[in-house]
Amino acid sequence: MTTVENGTGKQEFAGKRALVTGGSRGIGAAVVRQLLDAGAEVLTTARSATSTVPEGAAFVEADVRTRAGAEALAAVARETFGGVDVLVHNAGGARPYEGSSAIPDEAWQDALDLNYLAAVRLDSLLTPGMRERRSGAVVHVSSAAVLTPAGPFLHYGPAKAALENYSRGLALELAPCGVRVNAVAPGRVATPGGEATRERWAEVTARMGAAQAESNPDDAPPLGRDGRPDDIANAVLFLASDRAGWLTGRRLVLDGGEFPMG
Ligand SMILES: NC(=O)c1ccc[n+]([C@@H]2O[C@H](COP(=O)([O-])OP(=O)(O)OC[C@H]3O[C@@H](n4cnc5c(N)ncnc54)[C@H](OP(=O)(O)O)[C@@H]3O)[C@@H](O)[C@H]2O)c1
Repeated sequence: MTTVENGTGKQEFAGKRALVTGGSRGIGAAVVRQLLDAGAEVLTTARSATSTVPEGAAFVEADVRTRAGAEALAAVARETFGGVDVLVHNAGGARPYEGSSAIPDEAWQDALDLNYLAAVRLDSLLTPGMRERRSGAVVHVSSAAVLTPAGPFLHYGPAKAALENYSRGLALELAPCGVRVNAVAPGRVATPGGEATRERWAEVTARMGAAQAESNPDDAPPLGRDGRPDDIANAVLFLASDRAGWLTGRRLVLDGGEFPMG
């Protein structure tokens, strides 16, 4: 286990209570592991438990796409910890379709529920406690897809864009209360969900034909490799830590240099 200290000999997140959505694999599992290593108590969630939920984390099955799921999760967080100091909205994603008109209504709604409204609902339930304590940090996991709208993902990118716009607004609302809100926008990260999505994306792109393919999921970013879950978790922990105490309402793009306007 790596011990993360804050220069005073104390673990950086000692005494902090964290809730991370989607911590059973991929980026979420890396965030959970790093928070545990840094001394936090961590509750995480997914729709089903797996052997890849990091050891030491409390786990509850919940579907964050619904108001009922968010309420059940917030209730467990309050029962388990009394409240949360760090809230990381990581659960997200969407499968690609062959262009905007091929995306069914349910998929548009599902993308909004999972990538945007899940965060809105959980924040509305758990940030009032942070506001009362005049301390807390929220991190929303967005996507570099907001920088390059792509036909197969026109339900996903706009949902993440909404998340970022909301994130900035919530940051301004909560700043006077001592609560910080930031976002990270990963590029291509090697995770189970990311790999499966890119495989389907390549199939969809082939069916759409090269002329309609806005970007090639096979291109490597300038730094020469895809991201690792820990690359994103490093940034999430920074934003959630006191080291980022003068940072709110921002979006950090982590993409290996892929997007010029990040
Ligand atoms: N990997 C990338 O290349 C990439 C790039 C840009 C942005 N992102 C963003 O980064 C975040 C994490 O991505 P990832 O690649 O690590 O994904 P992943 O490997 O698919 O893992 C997603 C996690 O979220 C959980 N989850 C999914 N739907 C859920 C729901 N309705 N309720 C509760 N939990 C749910 C999954 O567990 P269950 O399926 O069991 O529920 C799993 O624990 C997402 O927001 C994604 O949009 C990823």
